[in-house]
Amino acid sequence: MKKNIILIGFMGVGKGTTARAYAQKYNCFNIDTDDLIESKENQKVKDIFAEKGESYFRNCEQLCADWIEASVENSFVSCGGGFYNVSNLKQLGTVVLLDASYDWIFNRLSTADNAKSKLKKRPLFAEPKKAKKLYKEREKAYMKVADVIIDVENKSMKSIIKEIHKKVKV
Ligand code: S3P
Repeated sequence: MKKNIILIGFMGVGKGTTARAYAQKYNCFNIDTDDLIESKENQKVKDIFAEKGESYFRNCEQLCADWIEASVENSFVSCGGGFYNVSNLKQLGTVVLLDASYDWIFNRLSTADNAKSKLKKRPLFAEPKKAKKLYKEREKAYMKVADVIIDVENKSMKSIIKEIHKKVKV
């Protein structure tokens, strides 16, 4: 199996922040699937959704997964919330799930300093009711694909990245 950490979880659970903190502390590179897609398409995720549609974006995620499988090693990969659905997820590295309840995630997003922009850039979070439904639909699927599950509710970033490092050797 490839020596990458593949960080999955629901929108707003803190994948990007965790990935950056981990990369800094443990001296490795972090790449983010949404950033990779945005740079390849030269367009923001929300605009890809609006102009080309969700299925086009999902296809970009699969192309991104194929590229990671072919070309990425020894890296920390933070993924968009729907990336767990790519066909080759398990070939990309050790899959780590950041887990928290919907209410905790919603509270984290809506009380952030830049709450407006955090919600605006996520088209699937535009309507909280729909986002909650999506959370419920995905909850079990995330657990099923994860090699390691990290409960992040009310834990410090320091302890979260320490726990990942302890549980996954890459
Ligand atoms: C999505 C999550 C987003 C982004 C896109 C779709 C999803 O990433 O990939 O808006 O399907 O859950 P984050 O999880 O970083 O918000």
